[in-house]
Amino acid sequence: MQRRQVMQWGAALALTSWLGRPALAASSDAGHGGSQLAGGMPDPASLGLGRGASLPALRRLPLELKNGALQGCLTAAPLNLPLLPGKAATAFWAYNDSVPGPAIELYEGESLSLRFDNRLPQATTVHWHGLPIPADQDGNPHDAVPAGQGRDYHFTLPPDSAGSYWYHPHPHGHTAEQVYRGLAGVFVVRRRDDPLAHLPEQWLLLSDLKLDDGGQIAGSSDADLMDGREGQFVLVNGAWRPKLTLGMGERQRWRVWNATSARVLRLALPAHEVHLVGTDGGLIASPRPLDSLLLPPGARAELVVTGRFAVGKPAGLLALPYARGKMMGLEQESALPLLALERGADAVAAPLPARLRRIEALGLPQVKRRVVFSEDMANPAAMFLINGKIFDMDRVDFVGKAGQVEEWEVDNQADMDHPFHLHGTQFQVVARHDGRGWRDEPYLAWRDVVNVPPEQKVRLRFRQEMAGARMFHCHILEHEDAGMMGVLDVRA
Ligand code: C2O
Ligand code: CU
Repeated sequence: MQRRQVMQWGAALALTSWLGRPALAASSDAGHGGSQLAGGMPDPASLGLGRGASLPALRRLPLELKNGALQGCLTAAPLNLPLLPGKAATAFWAYNDSVPGPAIELYEGESLSLRFDNRLPQATTVHWHGLPIPADQDGNPHDAVPAGQGRDYHFTLPPDSAGSYWYHPHPHGHTAEQVYRGLAGVFVVRRRDDPLAHLPEQWLLLSDLKLDDGGQIAGSSDADLMDGREGQFVLVNGAWRPKLTLGMGERQRWRVWNATSARVLRLALPAHEVHLVGTDGGLIASPRPLDSLLLPPGARAELVVTGRFAVGKPAGLLALPYARGKMMGLEQESALPLLALERGADAVAAPLPARLRRIEALGLPQVKRRVVFSEDMANPAAMFLINGKIFDMDRVDFVGKAGQVEEWEVDNQADMDHPFHLHGTQFQVVARHDGRGWRDEPYLAWRDVVNVPPEQKVRLRFRQEMAGARMFHCHILEHEDAGMMGVLDVRA
């Protein structure tokens, strides 16, 4: 199991340093059987990897209040980071010379005015994943910023929009490449009366890095294009298997982003007490105890983690085995360590409020639609389909009306998991069909991504408040680029 071995090197690779600082700690224990690696992978024994780096804090985007808006600058440009000793620096694409990009944090009701400059060799857009903002500010593929040019993005965060969002490129056909080269950052919207404001907070952006023999970011193989790309390294805030300190009995609030191209992560902290307190679009009504959490590509969760360090259980954050119906690559067969937890000083657990937020169920739908995912492996030009078609920039797939409740049934008739994502609003999953029957969703939550395994269906409801073209697509980025995407045109 070459893949399994690759996953077992316990070391930390820190990309978060930016220009002017060395990217890596010294090597201590890298390399168990690197010679068994499949072709095209670098031998981790040769990587400058060191166990035990601390979880890097995400850099913040500097913002300045001017004319009623928070103003800042975001630039996408090539960035070389020295990763491998004796080899050329690894060429990334980065926002503001930082991998991951700078974190953006605002309060509900605030406005953001951002100057964006594209210094990449190709067109891009900045998509504000999950945010309820106007369509013409949302980085649709239709609104590409050509290489060497720029634009302003301007929007105001509506009431009750607090949550954990992110931003990433969304150009036609090149989203996957731009994200795996390093372009992604988190966007947190806060509320003033946050019931969990008393808890210390950790932000964990999970991403995937695939390197070639020369230590450069690898191109995508046929398997990557088919299954969705996975790298040798799942990084947390740009570091490989970093560590974090948690006191015995201490309560921390974690925000977790799955910014990998394609991994469906079954997250678990077996030694600790975990509550789910929030989903993509912010807090849920009350905390829910959790054994493991399925976090598909693009999705986020808020967890309250209470340090317990149960004897005999692995102390850190793991991705448990999960099979997502891959056509070419091996499934993940063993637990993948993501983050080590070190026991800190004993603490008295801070209170966890029983009520977090009021969420009203969306009413009965005025419109019902079906979205069918399918695969046609015999047709390389149109392999991943929605309602039998691949994406066409000039086609409108559905016409909707602002303010109307829609109910969509997303039906996966393909062989792989496909995580469904909708722009511009948050939805409520109403029911899921596991192949045998429908089951009502046990709790209300605001989401913008839901995983749909093969032969399963999901019923969801939403309301788009603003007019404009909204994309819906599979969030396995290689599938999105291959055309597993459509347009909902919302009319006023
Ligand atoms: Cu995170 Cu349309 O994407
Ligand atoms: Cu897909």
